Amino acid sequence: MKNTAVIILAAGKGERMKSELPKVLHSLCGRPMLGFVLDLVRDLKAAKTIAVLGYRHEDVAKHITPGVKVVIQKRVIGTADAVKQALPQLKNFRGTVVVLYGDTPLLKKETIKELIARHTQNNADVTLLTASLEKPRGYGRILRDQYCCISGIVEEKDADDFQKDIKEINTGIMCFDVKSLIKALRLIRPNNRKREYYLTDAVSLLRKRGGLIESVEVSDVNEVLGINSRLELSKANAIMQQRINERIMVDGATIIDPASAFISFNARIGRDTVIYPFTVIENNVKIGARCKVGPFIRLRPGTRLKDDVSVGNFLEVSRSELGPRSQAKHFGYIGDSRIGRAVNIGAGSVTANYDGSRKSVTRIRDNAFIGCDTVLVAPVVVGRGARTGAGSVVTKNRNIADGQTVAGVPARPLKTRR
Ligand code: UD1
Ligand code: MG
Repeated sequence: MKNTAVIILAAGKGERMKSELPKVLHSLCGRPMLGFVLDLVRDLKAAKTIAVLGYRHEDVAKHITPGVKVVIQKRVIGTADAVKQALPQLKNFRGTVVVLYGDTPLLKKETIKELIARHTQNNADVTLLTASLEKPRGYGRILRDQYCCISGIVEEKDADDFQKDIKEINTGIMCFDVKSLIKALRLIRPNNRKREYYLTDAVSLLRKRGGLIESVEVSDVNEVLGINSRLELSKANAIMQQRINERIMVDGATIIDPASAFISFNARIGRDTVIYPFTVIENNVKIGARCKVGPFIRLRPGTRLKDDVSVGNFLEVSRSELGPRSQAKHFGYIGDSRIGRAVNIGAGSVTANYDGSRKSVTRIRDNAFIGCDTVLVAPVVVGRGARTGAGSVVTKNRNIADGQTVAGVPARPLKTRR
């Protein structure tokens, strides 16, 4: 969209989060909320995208994607002031400026496209994305005159009792004609209880000067949930989780109980894999086809399960790969491990990957059989088709040769007739 520029407001600390972490870096399903907004913007292909950062901007800037210009708001004194900081970047720009909030990560691309389309068709000065909420608490309310035309926005803190009853709210997402935006920003004063420069005041100021104010009402109110508190964060997280789980099911995996499947935004899961209840799948986990996962399991970052793998209850897997047809069906820990094909890992087995200062790798080659309750102290290699007896402790660097069977504490080779 050549005639469109986007400004993302993300300078606030997020006082109501009661956190040292900038609000926009709080995560939904394993990802800072700002990331979802940046994705949306990338899909819009705007001529220019500017992110306004402030509180701990060095930390937030690390999450900004290439192609997005960062500007700093030195003092966080309101959304209008924040937008002002982006204006020097729009010097020769003519067209539509879309304002997005970094704390509204559930917004969908289709909605924002519709907003822009409506704004352009109507040749409006401002087009607001609004929503009708049963419980509008905390949001700015849309004021309309006797002809039902929008005349302004009043923040909850400044609203009287009648205004508080209004159910139509400002989502914060707006499109401006750039000239109207510049005009309005010159006029905005901190005439409110918080003594802040409110972008929302642009609406009544432009209206008074004969401007055309339009609006689009969002159909799914979940999309415009603004996150200001931990409670809203948890609500948004649940909605995002539902979206992720639905996408995974659409792509061909079964989730027995989506309400207890906590799956990261970037997990990849192959077809005909079944996710059993109470499963946590963290960032950068890749699961092949026809796997069985859970119930009661935690797959931590960097886990790779190849096709037809079974991992069962009370198991933790971290930074490890399990080759095709391998299984670890009952409680245990697998960390920093490279496990080949068709390996069986018995109940209660543990890879001891951490010696207090360093993490080391365990390799288990194809067709090996790890007896119940085996401890493999890394670094160690278990050869192809090798076996460990129940309760063995295989000590550091005492690699097990292909086909060999070991048992005991510390584990020693058994003389077996083959
Ligand atoms: C804002 C709107 C409110 C709307 C609600 C929707 C204003 C004045 N109010 O309220 O009408 O219903 O969003 O969620 O706009 N920010 C800056 N610099 C600042 C202040 C804020 O960049 O000086 C950023 C914040 O980081 C945040 C966004 O702007 O991403 C909105 O600020 P926030 O304080 O969350 O406003 P709300 O009280 O939610
Ligand atoms: Mg907010």
